[in-house]
Amino acid sequence: MAILVTGGAGYIGSHTVVELLNAEQQVIVLDNLSNANVNALKRIENITNKTCVFYQGSVLNKALLHKIFTDHQIESVIHFAGLKAVGESVNKPLQYYETNVTGTIILCQVMAEHGVKQLVFSSSATVYGVPDSLPIRENFTTGATNPYGQSKLMVEQLLTDLHIADKQWNIAVLRYFNPVGAHESGLIGEDPSDTPNNLMPYICQVAVGKLPELQIFGNDYLTPDGTGVRDYIHVVDLAQGHLKALQKLSTRPGIVTYNLGTGRGYSVIEIIKAFEQASGKQIPYRFSARRDGDLAAYFADSSLAYEELNWQPLHSLESMVESSWLWQSKNPNGYND
Ligand code: NAD
Ligand code: UFG
Repeated sequence: MAILVTGGAGYIGSHTVVELLNAEQQVIVLDNLSNANVNALKRIENITNKTCVFYQGSVLNKALLHKIFTDHQIESVIHFAGLKAVGESVNKPLQYYETNVTGTIILCQVMAEHGVKQLVFSSSATVYGVPDSLPIRENFTTGATNPYGQSKLMVEQLLTDLHIADKQWNIAVLRYFNPVGAHESGLIGEDPSDTPNNLMPYICQVAVGKLPELQIFGNDYLTPDGTGVRDYIHVVDLAQGHLKALQKLSTRPGIVTYNLGTGRGYSVIEIIKAFEQASGKQIPYRFSARRDGDLAAYFADSSLAYEELNWQPLHSLESMVESSWLWQSKNPNGYND
């Protein structure tokens, strides 16, 4: 029996495929490479000494999905494939809703037709919108302020309705906080195709001289040093969370939502200092205006995942910044090196 990983060549997907292969699982990856490089899959083979089956194509391609489910005995699906840039989603709502929502509908249709009803879905902490308080628990009110967040909420709703209609569906919705870091080999990592939007890849590119300086968006938040606080989680811990969620699906029927974060927030300044320490590089920065839509602080209560999945993040902030730097310094041009 195999696990289908959509978006498995991407940042979080590639790290999860490594953990799955290391756990002796058979893996099939479907990825259209719109935001990934096929070299990631070769690097996964180097790390694990194992291979996965790869299909280059879209989750929107129903015929291809049928072929994959016909050709392989698939028992569950981890669905990473999607578009994830908040700003871009405002300008390209149709593309975001099509890929993220229609893509999930088509995937679930084909899964149902083949009797496969075990699904782990990549959601995001962005679905909490402006949280009522901190830390954020799974039962907090949800809300979205952009098409990306809205698409995640729509998928969460459709998966809930799917389970109401057919109790055979077992679904884990994972709400990630801020994934950072890279595999300890430095062979796979985050490889943004454009100028990064997120803090850690931006710092990495400043460190290797591809970008001149970091802009810190706001230093007047009500946080200890005035800069934004986030719940950064090592991507390998996140990947492990998927394996735990998959195991749980077989024992805990139904649909369940888990926060995956560390529960500990770090400010932008703290991240820069930790990165400088790990890399020995100085990160030039300047303060600029707050970024639209940003909040002062955002961090998880992940106790439900700790209790029910027996999952705990094991990597420290030092390990997050060290591995980010290892990946970036070994691969200044990402997978094109
Ligand atoms: P990523 O862009 O690296 O991975 C997504 C993968 O999906 C890419 O490999 C891309 O080529 C592929 N893809 C896109 N459209 C596709 C399609 N139509 N068919 C098949 N493949 C397609 O992003 P990531 O950071 O690894 O994120 C994975 C998932 O986690 C996404 O659903 C994202 O929304 C979610 N998520 C990410 C973050 C984050 O900060 N990285 C936070 C919360 C949630
Ligand atoms: N930041 C800067 N300068 C930059 C980039 C970011 O100061 O160049 C700051 C932001 O203002 C924020 C912090 O660094 O305080 C983290 O910003 P990111 O862009 O890395 O992450 P966000 O928390 O804004 O968003 C991320 C994902 C979203 C996801 C959200 C949910 O990008 O997709 O986490 O947790 F929805």
